[in-house]
Amino acid sequence: MDKAQEITAIEQACFNDPWSVGVVQSCLEQPHYVWETFTREGQLVAYACASVSLDEGELLRIAVMPAYRRQGIGEQLLMSVLAHLHDRGVEKVFLEVRASNVAAQALYGKMGFQVIGKRKGYYTGNEDAVIMEKM
Ligand SMILES: CC(C)(COP(=O)(O)OP(=O)(O)OC[C@H]1O[C@@H](n2cnc3c(N)ncnc32)[C@H](O)[C@@H]1OP(=O)(O)O)[C@@H](O)C(=O)NCCC(=O)NCCS
Repeated sequence: MDKAQEITAIEQACFNDPWSVGVVQSCLEQPHYVWETFTREGQLVAYACASVSLDEGELLRIAVMPAYRRQGIGEQLLMSVLAHLHDRGVEKVFLEVRASNVAAQALYGKMGFQVIGKRKGYYTGNEDAVIMEKM
């Protein structure tokens, strides 16, 4: 499996609306996307992806295979992405997260993200998006 296929396998295990291998491949090729991956015993088990637009960044995805959760991998990945974004001149990072996604919101809160708003019915299933920001 190449990198795009490995990431797509994680997408399929972690999301109801997984990115296709084509989307992953094209995001991997674009210079304004920042990727961090985490490998355990030769297998890609987690990744995070953010986009850069001048001095703003947006965290687009972070996912850890279910068997590897609650071991600090998500936190480590997010820290690496934030450091990478900082190196690229980013001063402010945004993200959107499903209102029901307690685990992700706890991770983002722990990493210093603050809730700045909500998008009503943003996701399929009419679920709200919580918007968070970190300076
Ligand atoms: C969100 C996710 C990336 C967290 O990854 P993880 O490796 O399990 O997280 P960590 O072990 O680094 O946890 C760091 C902190 O996040 C919080 N956290 C993580 N999972 C949690 C859970 N299930 N419930 C409550 N808090 C949680 C805690 O504050 C934790 O710190 P602690 O261990 O000191 O309590 C993982 O649950 C995941 O892949 N979920 C599915 C994909 C997803 O929803 N991605 C986010 C939207 S793009």
